[in-house]
Amino acid sequence: MAKNTKRVGFIGWRGMVGSVLMDRMRAEGDFSGYDPVFFSTSDAGGAPPSVGVDAPPLKDAFSVDDLKTLDIIVSCQGGDYTNEIHPKLRAAGGNGIWIDAASALRMKESCIIVLDPVNRDVIERGLRSGVKDFAGGNCTVSLMLMALSGLFKHNLVEWISSMTYQAASGAGAKNMIELAKQMERITMSAAPLLADPASGALDIDRAVTAELRGDSIPTTNFGAPLAASLIPWIDKPSDNGQTREEWKGAAETNKILNTTKTIPVDGICVRVGAMRCHSQGLTIKMTKDAPINEIVDIIKSAHEWVTVVPNDKESTLKNLTPAAVGGTLNVPIGRLHKMNIGPEYLTAFTVGDQLLWGAAEPVRRMLKIALEYR
Ligand code: HSE
Repeated sequence: MAKNTKRVGFIGWRGMVGSVLMDRMRAEGDFSGYDPVFFSTSDAGGAPPSVGVDAPPLKDAFSVDDLKTLDIIVSCQGGDYTNEIHPKLRAAGGNGIWIDAASALRMKESCIIVLDPVNRDVIERGLRSGVKDFAGGNCTVSLMLMALSGLFKHNLVEWISSMTYQAASGAGAKNMIELAKQMERITMSAAPLLADPASGALDIDRAVTAELRGDSIPTTNFGAPLAASLIPWIDKPSDNGQTREEWKGAAETNKILNTTKTIPVDGICVRVGAMRCHSQGLTIKMTKDAPINEIVDIIKSAHEWVTVVPNDKESTLKNLTPAAVGGTLNVPIGRLHKMNIGPEYLTAFTVGDQLLWGAAEPVRRMLKIALEYR
């Protein structure tokens, strides 16, 4: 082992976000220049994943002594793990940089929410001042900020109402599987009718609705059918009638941007039957009546991942759907136009991959920033 080589520990690399992170890191050749150490909560001593460089056998993710030896820890293990181990590590003098995909640390004073195309300045100031805890943001918030970064940078946002259309992946891997199984049940229930050219749409609807309301459709994870339906509730109740997912809109947006005056963000968060792309319909109250062509220029020049989709049907259907965006780092925003409500009101629709910019990518990039930091 080269002297002074940093040791980076990975926890939760087998889960869904962890797997997406590993894939992105392999694709970007991100495993060189430091010593990776992989941890497991259940298989200490087992073989590490194949990442193109040597790594020791898996270490025990609950061993504070092992975690203490690391310069950087990247955790995709989930909030319960972070809540249990992070305080023990810090209490034992473990001083490494902790980069977390989960929400457990996000709103703590000591933690910076990372989304470097949007808040690189906040991250760098934090590193310089000795901040050790960094967390990826809520997926909906990160994707909204990726789309609207230019407007925020130009102080054009007075408030935002975001009505979301959130994918099954945001609820977890089991939920994605449950959605696909619900689709399967619905298809099976309608199959004889679909095979008969004489069947009418209302016959098919009766079969589908009976299946949605019956006992056979699997709903253990979502609590209700999502396929051929939607669920206008995400996460636990919060104050003022909001859900916690809705509460995060303003809380995390303002923390990521490090605003001095709170920019209100609010709306209804809805689960829909998309697999891994969150979409959002936005109403934006601007601080002034800026011309639409200026707004488009400002939005698309913010960073390399945002694209503005022309507000026409063909471009929208081709480029502004979960089907088009899933598995890519592109964050398109379209349907942009001023609203009838008044010239300072802008509306837009944006789509982004919940597992990439919504989860793994900010964490991957934060690791690189932390490694470069001396
Ligand atoms: N809470 C989000 C959702 C995903 O349920 O879609 C994680 O940010």
